Amino acid sequence: MAPTTALPVLRVAPSILSADFGNLADAVNLVAPASDWLHVDVMDGHFVPNLSIGPPVVSSLREHTDLFFDTHLMITDPASYLEAFRDAGADGCTVHVEVGGTEALIGQMRDLGLRVGLAANPDTPFEALEPYLPAVDLVLCMTVFPGFGGQSFIADVMPKVRRVHKAVAEAGLTVDVEVDGGIDEHTVVDAARAGANVFVAGSAVFGRPHPLDATRRILAAAVDAVTGAPS
Ligand code: DX5
Ligand code: ZN
Repeated sequence: MAPTTALPVLRVAPSILSADFGNLADAVNLVAPASDWLHVDVMDGHFVPNLSIGPPVVSSLREHTDLFFDTHLMITDPASYLEAFRDAGADGCTVHVEVGGTEALIGQMRDLGLRVGLAANPDTPFEALEPYLPAVDLVLCMTVFPGFGGQSFIADVMPKVRRVHKAVAEAGLTVDVEVDGGIDEHTVVDAARAGANVFVAGSAVFGRPHPLDATRRILAAAVDAVTGAPS
C-alpha cells in the first residue's frame, strides 16, 4: 500500500505585536474563533533593534486564553529565558539559528516540554536550517527582517520555503513551516503555494477594522491557494 501523507493543518497565527497593548486580552479573544494559535513576538533590543514584551505579559495573557502561544524569541540569549517563558505559559518557543548554540537550545526546549521552533532571517540560507530539521517541530522562515511589524513581504524567501517544505516531506517529518512578516490575504497565496502552513499576520489582522474577518480572509486565501480554487 502506498504511504499516505496527511496534509498539514493550515493556520493563521495572529501576531499580538500589532494589537493594542493596553487591551491585549480583548484583542486576542476577538480572533480566537478563527485561530487556535497566537504569535507572541519577544524582542530584546539587541538581536533586533526594538523591545517588546517578556514573561510577565505572557503570564497575564495566559489567564485570558487557551490559544497555543507560538512564542518567537528575537533575542540574543534565549537559553537564559526559555524556562521563564515556559513557566509563563508559552506552548512553543522559536529561537533564531543566527544566535548559535542551536543544538543545545533544541535540547533545552525539549527538556522543558516546549514545542521546538527554529527561525531563520531572510538572508540566512536553507543550509543553516537543514541539519536541525529532524529535531524540530516548526521552521520559521522570516519574510521580513525581524524587529518591526508592518514591513513588506520579501518574496525572494519563497525558494527557501520550498526547500524546507520539500526536505521535510521527503524525510517524512512532521514539521510546521511558518512564515512571518508582510503576510496578508494576497501574499499568503505565494507562501502557501511554496509549502508554508502557518501564516503569522500582525498588521493585516490587528491593523484592520475587523480583525476576525481579516484572519478568516487570510486563511481562506491560503486554503484556496493550496486547493487550486481561484484566489
Ligand atoms: C517581526 C515580527 C512579526 C510581526 C509581523 O519582527 O516577528 O511577527 O509581528 O508583523 P506584520 O504581519 O505586520 O508584518
Ligand atoms: Zn514574529
